[in-house]
Amino acid sequence: MISSSSLLSLTFFSLCLTQSAVEAQTIGTWSSNLQLHNRQNGNNNGNGQNNGPDTSAFNIVNGRVFTPGLGIILAPQPFTPMGGDFLHIAVDVSADGKLPVPPRNIADPLTQVYNFTLFLTSTAMQKNFTISNITTSTPPFADIMVQESGSTVKHINFEWPQCLAGDGNDQDGTTARGDYNISIHQNYRLNGVDRYTIFNLPISVTNSISQFPGAGQLTTNPAPGPLSANGGRMDCAMIENPMVDFQTQVNSVNNPPGQPMQAVPIETSPRSDGGQVGENGSGNEGVGGQSMTSRQGEISPGQGGEAALGAAVKMTSESLSMAMVVMLGALVVLSTSIIW
Ligand SMILES: *[C@@H]1O[C@H](CO)[C@@H](O)[C@H](O)[C@H]1NC(C)=O
Ligand SMILES: *[C@@H]1O[C@H](CO)[C@@H](O)[C@H](O)[C@H]1NC(C)=O
Ligand SMILES: *[C@@H]1O[C@H](CO)[C@@H](O)[C@H](O)[C@H]1NC(C)=O
Ligand SMILES: *[C@@H]1O[C@H](CO)[C@@H](O)[C@H](O)[C@H]1NC(C)=O
Ligand SMILES: *[C@@H]1O[C@H](CO)[C@@H](O)[C@H](O)[C@H]1NC(C)=O
Repeated sequence: MISSSSLLSLTFFSLCLTQSAVEAQTIGTWSSNLQLHNRQNGNNNGNGQNNGPDTSAFNIVNGRVFTPGLGIILAPQPFTPMGGDFLHIAVDVSADGKLPVPPRNIADPLTQVYNFTLFLTSTAMQKNFTISNITTSTPPFADIMVQESGSTVKHINFEWPQCLAGDGNDQDGTTARGDYNISIHQNYRLNGVDRYTIFNLPISVTNSISQFPGAGQLTTNPAPGPLSANGGRMDCAMIENPMVDFQTQVNSVNNPPGQPMQAVPIETSPRSDGGQVGENGSGNEGVGGQSMTSRQGEISPGQGGEAALGAAVKMTSESLSMAMVVMLGALVVLSTSIIW
């Protein structure tokens, strides 16, 4: 058991660790002055001087990149030089296992994901490609929440479009290769408040990308895309969006007061569909047990659901067989919830 005060100091400690790191790629500032910091995005470190972007400014724990939303980026890591057939992105969409994912019901009045959309953007190149924008049922444009059903980690395999094919940097100015952001827009509700955040993960498109992607990639799941009608790379113009001015993006976000999970503990609604079957036994030292019914959904309050399983009945020979029935029932409930 961790006492609440040590938990508090732990949270505070991790806050101190990550505070300076978080804002650099988070568009805008955290929404309350609790942890309000000067944004480093504009190359302003808070003392009015232009010190350049803070390239180490990411909130990474064990290779997992925390964002200002419920998603955690598992791949790629910031500033990775990339190439190959397609861009592979992996995102934990379950708020680190705290939230259910489809096909389970994700609706919760306190905390839930609405959607993720992703773009591959570059101010230097003046490019804004759609990676995923929920317009088709085919990945990666499909809603990533409903793909890979049941998995808390969603994989996006974005086929590099034509103008990114090449090797090294853009030498003769005929390609759009160079530095990009994987820009992740998150709409979600956190502890009863709707939020919208944008997070930029920088990568370099500098490794080799062949003009014609290998057929072998088609066995990849989810299938890389989008592809042109003849199965090749997409014409860049086909997946381009207008550039949105940085300040407009800053004005559009509604960031939470701090990083969900690390700084803002996630609240979810209590559920009543599980836990102890039957009511508590009555009486002392095993004279009870007679009032048990097999009403499902009887939960001992304040115990956090499953924690109450099989805890209430004292074992005597009289109540043992009844308790076994209860525990069997509980086992069924337990294994059902595991399968789910
Ligand atoms: C994402 O969710 C927000 C909030 O519910 C909604 O306004 C928006 O239309 C959704 N976007 C897409 C592409 O579905
Ligand atoms: C990536 O986004 C940051 C802001 O979050 C911006 O400062 C940087 O210039 C962007 N990089 C590119 C290559 O557009
Ligand atoms: C989604 O992206 C594709 C490719 O860029 C584009 O054709 C489509 O219009 C976009 N949908 C929306 C709603 O912006
Ligand atoms: C890219 O396009 C999307 C969709 O139009 C937009 O929401 C986003 O702000 C754009 N990003 C940049 C950096 O222009
Ligand atoms: C059942 O017993 C537990 C303690 O074992 C208690 O916390 C809970 O309140 C009891 N439930 C009811 C309905 O009395």
